[in-house]
Amino acid sequence: MTQATARAYPNIALVKYWGKADEALIIPVAGSMSMTLDDYATTTTVRLDDAADALNLNGTELDHTDSATQRVGAFLDIVRGLAQERGLDTAAAHAQVTTVNEGPTAAGMASSASGFAALAQAASAAYGLDLDTRDLSRLARRGSGSACRSVINRFAVWHAGDSDETSYAEEIAAPDLAMIAVTVASGAKKVSSRAGMRATAATSPFYRAWITTTEESLNEMVRACADADFTRIGEITEAHAMRMHAVINACEPPIRYLAPASYQVFDAVAELRANGVEAYATADAGPNVVVISRPEDAEQIAGALGQYAENGEAKVLRPGPGAHVVNA
Ligand code: DP6
Repeated sequence: MTQATARAYPNIALVKYWGKADEALIIPVAGSMSMTLDDYATTTTVRLDDAADALNLNGTELDHTDSATQRVGAFLDIVRGLAQERGLDTAAAHAQVTTVNEGPTAAGMASSASGFAALAQAASAAYGLDLDTRDLSRLARRGSGSACRSVINRFAVWHAGDSDETSYAEEIAAPDLAMIAVTVASGAKKVSSRAGMRATAATSPFYRAWITTTEESLNEMVRACADADFTRIGEITEAHAMRMHAVINACEPPIRYLAPASYQVFDAVAELRANGVEAYATADAGPNVVVISRPEDAEQIAGALGQYAENGEAKVLRPGPGAHVVNA
């Protein structure tokens, strides 16, 4: 019986992915850029088995009708399709998937990214596919778009591309950064990223502008990284996050991911800057805020922002590794 275990970490985008050009293949409307974290790991074991596909999530065996089991099953079908193309005799096997998430699930801490990156790595190894980083990134993308970036070490650019072959993430050099996660609410979000993106494309009048401005932000971000210009990286990150929330807020009916507590953190970060501490904030499709800083300022900033966190503590995160097999 073939089995593999892999670990992957969430990533937080500095230039965000929000919108698909191709829903089935998950090709984004624009590129994005992120930092892979060094905590909140997902560890996933895939064991090939003759029984039906099964999913155990954080110690609970999920029913085969559960939406998570179905999403994992659809992803395994893609992996089996690749195994079949390569004539591997594993192609017919079902799989037992066991996954443990250390971070808060579905609260804007990007658990689908670490989840599908770990699953892509574990499943491709268990089925006997020996994928290089680019092909692993392409595969992870099919599970959840942002997962293609969690395959990558430290900092990733996701090239939007216009086909399955051309849409993948790769590593980009960037100056050393810290992130400070301020978890203002750990509950599940009300509108999934997938549904929120669909609503934005269908109803937000600012969607076209969002697509153009994201491409511009990404080009600028790549330049700022090459110049190791922390200030510019921070400015682009915060402005871009606000633009994403603006295009989402403009949906009909409106969608709001940020909560009053989120805005308090954005205000506190602006105040830190006014006092000479360089920090910049961003937020994904949920109320939690992630602040970026130079590594040497991170502890001080975490100390100042802890009061806004649900549990009274802001957490310092550093660049982490891409998805990897931990035990084949
Ligand atoms: C706001 O990757 O979760 O975190 O491709 O539909 O699975 P699907 O969406 P997902 O969206 C992430 C959106 C985001 C921004 C980002 O990570 O770039």
